[in-house]
Amino acid sequence: MPRVGTPDEPLRAAVLVSGGGSGLAALLAYQSSNPCSHRTVLVLSDSSEARGLEHGLAAGVKTIGIPIPEGPSSRREHEKLIHEELEREDIELVVLSGYMRILTPDFVSLWKGRLVNIHPSLLPEFPGAHAHRDALAAGATVSGCTVHLVDEGVDSGRILEQREVPVLRGDTEADLQDRIKAVEHKLYPLALDRLSTGGYSF
Ligand code: GRF
Repeated sequence: MPRVGTPDEPLRAAVLVSGGGSGLAALLAYQSSNPCSHRTVLVLSDSSEARGLEHGLAAGVKTIGIPIPEGPSSRREHEKLIHEELEREDIELVVLSGYMRILTPDFVSLWKGRLVNIHPSLLPEFPGAHAHRDALAAGATVSGCTVHLVDEGVDSGRILEQREVPVLRGDTEADLQDRIKAVEHKLYPLALDRLSTGGYSF
């Protein structure tokens, strides 16, 4: 981290979402009801339609949908636009919360150590976009969630926190997702507390 955050001078966080943003909503609620060492000052999405944007707007946070541009280098162009917004807002911590794009190594290197993700499995088990489906297909009786630093791989960065969540007989993907999200919504703010106050030794 660039510095230690305090409740008086919280780290300036950006949250990136792609979908409904229940994790973003939980984080915003936590930050507004606790003396907190991180504050969300920017919400970005890779679509103007993402429902998660509504949570940022409702909280009075600067909120922008940045759709993927057309053209052959659209991925890099898109990341350039994201990076420019992050710099414009003096962002110190980038929080991926259901952000469904894999970031290029170039983008990761710009934000390494300041870029975190939450994934709905006990990594390294079940990385990728279908963690619940994969856990059920494997017959897992326990799954969970992982907060990790983002590196150049897919869901492979250093693990900061994990919590187990039981898989129950007859669970659908939606059942498991809901049960895991309830745990994620408590775990992510706590991991960000610890990260922003220098609580992890790297
Ligand atoms: C969460 O389960 C998170 O672990 C995964 O995407 C989901 C996002 O859900 N990366 P929401 O958009 O916050 O509701």
